[in-house]
Amino acid sequence: MDLKLPQVIGHRGAALAAPENTLESFREAAAQGARWVEFDVGLSADGQCFVLHDDTLDRTTSGKGPAHLKTVAELKTLDAGFWFGKAFEGAKLPTLAETVALLTELDLMANVEIKGAPEGRHAELATAVMAELRRLWPASKPKPLISSFELECLRTAQAAAPEFPRGYLIWGRQVDWLANARSVAAATMNIDTDHATQGWMAELKQAGYGVLVYTVNAPERAARLIEWGADGVFTDAPGAVLARLGKGV
Ligand code: G3P
Ligand code: MG
Repeated sequence: MDLKLPQVIGHRGAALAAPENTLESFREAAAQGARWVEFDVGLSADGQCFVLHDDTLDRTTSGKGPAHLKTVAELKTLDAGFWFGKAFEGAKLPTLAETVALLTELDLMANVEIKGAPEGRHAELATAVMAELRRLWPASKPKPLISSFELECLRTAQAAAPEFPRGYLIWGRQVDWLANARSVAAATMNIDTDHATQGWMAELKQAGYGVLVYTVNAPERAARLIEWGADGVFTDAPGAVLARLGKGV
């Protein structure tokens, strides 16, 4: 697997400077010097992959209620930028296809997080994501990292497109982490910063996993985690973290 992990991954793009999970946010991450971005993918009522963190539309769009009950055409009518600031009014909720097109234009790498889909649609979502990535991701680029908190999403991704590396997302130091990570042949463990002790990271590295830590906005904390052996961090402020690591634009 040709997976070369970056030290800095723009979380939901550059979520401190632009509305999360929008094309504007991915452009901002690139402008801040990030070479990788992370974003979250869900499944619409008509089976299309779209980019949004929450299950519901209320926090980050002009819509209301569960996102998975809307068709993509309905989701595309929403404003996904006004809540963040006037400058972003009119930003749209992107589809996975639109996002891949922009990442291709900007030559950005990605961690595609498959969010759990409500009503038992985990497998349907993961199947749709992998089909879309196989169709659209440029053959000339390394494959993006596919991550999820849901083992069913990772299992489905592995069966559908085993050539894409997988990251097992967890919160806390779960007792069954190793068995779960092995069961999906994960390449990375994506762990939360609150539980990211030096000892826990040493154990993960010892077991042979790449280690990525979310969500680390304080540059000093990012530097410390990398000193302890983390391969990289997810951050809403990629420019500030890159500057601290001596890699600023
Ligand atoms: O993938 C890292 C991080 O994004 C996981 O948590 O809730 O921000 O998607 P969340
Ligand atoms: Mg995420």
